[in-house]
Amino acid sequence: MKCTRQITDDLYYVGSSDRRITLFENCFPLSDGMAYNSYLLIDEKTVLFDTVDYAIGRQFIDNVTSLLDNRKLDYLVVHHMEPDHCSLITQLISLYPELKIVGNKKTAGLISQFYHVDMTEHFIFVNEGDTISTGKHNLKFIMAPMVHWPEVMLTYDETDKVLFSADAFGTFGALDGRIFNDELDYRNSFMDEARRYYANIVGKYGVQVQAVFKKLPAEIAYICSLHGPVWRKDIPFFLEKYQAWSTYTPEENGVFIAYASMYGNTELAAHLLSTKLAERGITNMKVVDVSAHHYSSHISDIFKYSVVVFASASYNMSVHPKMNELLTEMRELTVRNRAYAVIENGSWAPSAGKTIKATVDGLKDMRQIGETLTIKSAIMEEQEEKLDELARLIAEEVED
Ligand code: FEO
Repeated sequence: MKCTRQITDDLYYVGSSDRRITLFENCFPLSDGMAYNSYLLIDEKTVLFDTVDYAIGRQFIDNVTSLLDNRKLDYLVVHHMEPDHCSLITQLISLYPELKIVGNKKTAGLISQFYHVDMTEHFIFVNEGDTISTGKHNLKFIMAPMVHWPEVMLTYDETDKVLFSADAFGTFGALDGRIFNDELDYRNSFMDEARRYYANIVGKYGVQVQAVFKKLPAEIAYICSLHGPVWRKDIPFFLEKYQAWSTYTPEENGVFIAYASMYGNTELAAHLLSTKLAERGITNMKVVDVSAHHYSSHISDIFKYSVVVFASASYNMSVHPKMNELLTEMRELTVRNRAYAVIENGSWAPSAGKTIKATVDGLKDMRQIGETLTIKSAIMEEQEEKLDELARLIAEEVED
């Protein structure tokens, strides 16, 4: 039985959600599953925009075949060949042998790599700016290489001003029937997961996102992403978020304190610093134990706040393993443009500060605030002055 929603006169949501999945890409924790979106345009020609993950394949096929109601499917536009979106291509070819696949040269290469089938006879190759008319609708293709795979492209329906944005503007999380952003409390309930998704999945490719931004149409009435809600309200708000994230501009002036503590002493230093910041009127602040949450949420917070404080125990002449994991991911994702401060703890040969600085200074446009504060085992009363000074400098940075 179909479970779909109508988006415009001719466009339907035919995706679904998988609530059994707990790790996206077998890596990123999901507290509430994942939505895999697909869209069906019913015009003189019928067009499907992407397929879905195999986990929801049965519902997807029911949705598509029911809405087509014995009509044939003319085109499948493949925006992205990652398997969470392309798993049903061969099944669709079996159902609709005359189906034409719309994609680029790299799309075709990835299809043959994943499925070991030559689909050349089914292909309509498109390049930047090419268009296809489906009757009432005119579809224009926008190439988006390395956002975040090489074959990625977007489609703009010039008739209804709909942007099919591939992974861009997606989020972690399932949909529950409310597929439109204005049916959700999106500003409060959704942006943290949208940022976590962007920062960790696409975050490395800010330059490429910016290149696509310059090609986006001026008028966008709908954004149809491959994950998360369909945007039809407040679109400039989300575009502004993407503009900030893709230029590594802090979303907010505030402080993110990430600590890795073994026995509570580094934790106390982090808490003392946050208390002193609060006393100085800094209220936009978040303190986290990096061992208590997945690194992807810390990466998301680093994309959000303007100042990052790293407080870590030393370990094996380096840094605590969970802090090391965060630093490694920051390097992989080429995080940049933040002010940062360091607190290290080490009982006989403090080494955490050196490791943190070596990693962070290797990134672009990172500026240390003050000097590294060294704790030997536990913070001493006489170090409070130094902590005060660090809090003063951080507050100054935030208030600037
Ligand atoms: Fe949702 Fe890059 O796949």
